[in-house]
Amino acid sequence: MEDLLSKINKQKLPKHIAIIMDGNGRWAEEKGEDRLFGHFHGVESVRNIVEASAELGIQYLTLYAFSTENWDRPQQEVDGLMTLLVDTIHKEIADLNKNNIKLHIIGDIDMMPAFAQKELQEAIASTQNNTGLNLIMALSYSSRWELLNAVKNIGVAIKEGNLNPEDINSANFQQYLSTKNFPDPELMIRTSGEYRISNFLLYQLAYAELYFTNTCWPDFRKNNLLEAIVDYQNRERRFGKTGKQIIDKSITANNY
Ligand code: IPE
Ligand code: IPE
Ligand code: MG
Repeated sequence: MEDLLSKINKQKLPKHIAIIMDGNGRWAEEKGEDRLFGHFHGVESVRNIVEASAELGIQYLTLYAFSTENWDRPQQEVDGLMTLLVDTIHKEIADLNKNNIKLHIIGDIDMMPAFAQKELQEAIASTQNNTGLNLIMALSYSSRWELLNAVKNIGVAIKEGNLNPEDINSANFQQYLSTKNFPDPELMIRTSGEYRISNFLLYQLAYAELYFTNTCWPDFRKNNLLEAIVDYQNRERRFGKTGKQIIDKSITANNY
């Protein structure tokens, strides 16, 4: 078996990897099982990928776990997902702390049931002093919700005299996003053979490298992550410049 780890340049790891964890339902249906069976097995992949990312030294890992649009799924699936989320977080807090992982949540948490909000707040508080991997769970998240929220809050700041419209720039605009404390992802992975963004980090993914795989989320493991990173490291990121400019000096994204 080829050793994927030896193909990875540790000096060029992405700081931030974002993943659309997709395909749980189809994975289960293919096996003649209920969709919730797929979500249940998806948790095992989350555990594996979080652990692998921490081991590798990835600084930020964002996992898209539940979108604003997912609230419109059948009630039985939504309820099952909320229960699974709460149970999982509850069970994992000790391991998160043991592995020095700091949990963050982005999304419209007010839409979550009260018991889920409480469990999430406890987990965030319990891991807040950890200094290793930042694990960002996107829950009840959609990028359009986030951007509209930013616009509303900018409106309030202007109205209250705390911000001049002419002073708005990419640095202070980002302060209104739920990702204000995190760098933009360099690599975005989507599983299950779907080639779309589905309302995920539309602003932040401007220059991310996109990686799509047919593997469904419940089958996605450390080796699949390593494959994605190797692929990422073999790409030339140009940020609108020419290939020659990139070779001449190491260039990163400008904020326009
Ligand atoms: C991803 O798997 C998990 C969530 C969106 C909650 P899906 O549930 O979307 O599975 P598919 O895409 O229907 O197979
Ligand atoms: C995106 O997957 C959201 C999550 C993985 C949480 P969906 O399955 O909801 O996306 P669509 O409907 O296929 O675009
Ligand atoms: Mg899906």
